[in-house]
Amino acid sequence: DKVYLNGAYLPLAEAKVSVLDRGFLFGDGVYEVIPAYAGKLFRLESHVQRLNNSLAAIRLPLNYSVDEWQNIFQPLLNNNGKDQYIYLQITRGYAPKRDHGFPAETIPTVFAMCSEIVPFTGKTVGIKAVTLDDTRWQMCQVKAITLLANILLRQQALDQGAAEAILVKNGRVIEGAASNIFAVIDGVLVTPPKSHEILPGITRDVILELAQANNIASREADISLAELQAASEVWVASSTREIIPIVDLDGTAVADGKPGPVWQKLDKLLQDYKK
Ligand code: PDD
Repeated sequence: DKVYLNGAYLPLAEAKVSVLDRGFLFGDGVYEVIPAYAGKLFRLESHVQRLNNSLAAIRLPLNYSVDEWQNIFQPLLNNNGKDQYIYLQITRGYAPKRDHGFPAETIPTVFAMCSEIVPFTGKTVGIKAVTLDDTRWQMCQVKAITLLANILLRQQALDQGAAEAILVKNGRVIEGAASNIFAVIDGVLVTPPKSHEILPGITRDVILELAQANNIASREADISLAELQAASEVWVASSTREIIPIVDLDGTAVADGKPGPVWQKLDKLLQDYKK
């Protein structure tokens, strides 16, 4: 069970980073979570494109091709047929002293490890979610390792017996603490459009593509909190949890309190597509 660190494959216990690393001191870095099904990385090109957008946004120059990333990740994957994911983190690296400004010379820290995707419990019966004020910054399209707001929001949801926090800004539904949001409104599958307010999820893209290819009406549009509360289905989606129906929102049942037919259809389409 080796991990990748700056060009080397090491046992986890031997992978060490300086306490002066800017990832540790400032949360100065970005990350990716890339699923692998039956040993094959899922939509690697899209993940690398999003990574490059994140790196450009934080002005961290590092340009590996899709093939180079593939070669880095491949030795980390197990050939046991189980669903896995690569966690990749790139920070602005070690700097000789703690200073907010960028160091004169940047040597990024590149770290990757592989973990098993454990099927999310509660997926088939649905989960509880609570709505919370979106307290995050204004560059949510960047997959930054600086996740304090997301962590506090997720924990607040967990403390209330819910599995996800749905973030709301001035009455508009944005996304989950670590997921994108979908709702079925008047028979149409709706998700908020991409902007600086959301992380452009790869699962979100796949869901929209599968809906279009299978004549399921879908639309990218703002969702108000009132619309969410009246929706016939509400889901969250991410690489590690896939599509999860929400059956209880702020203590009130979503429609009849059971996962809906559109979720059932999309989940099946996604499971088939993964193969
Ligand atoms: N999170 N929105 C946020 C804020 C996220 O953190 C994530 C994923 C998503 C969904 O993106 P994708 O479909 O590409 O996984 C949306 C990952 C899984 C994480 O932080 O572990």
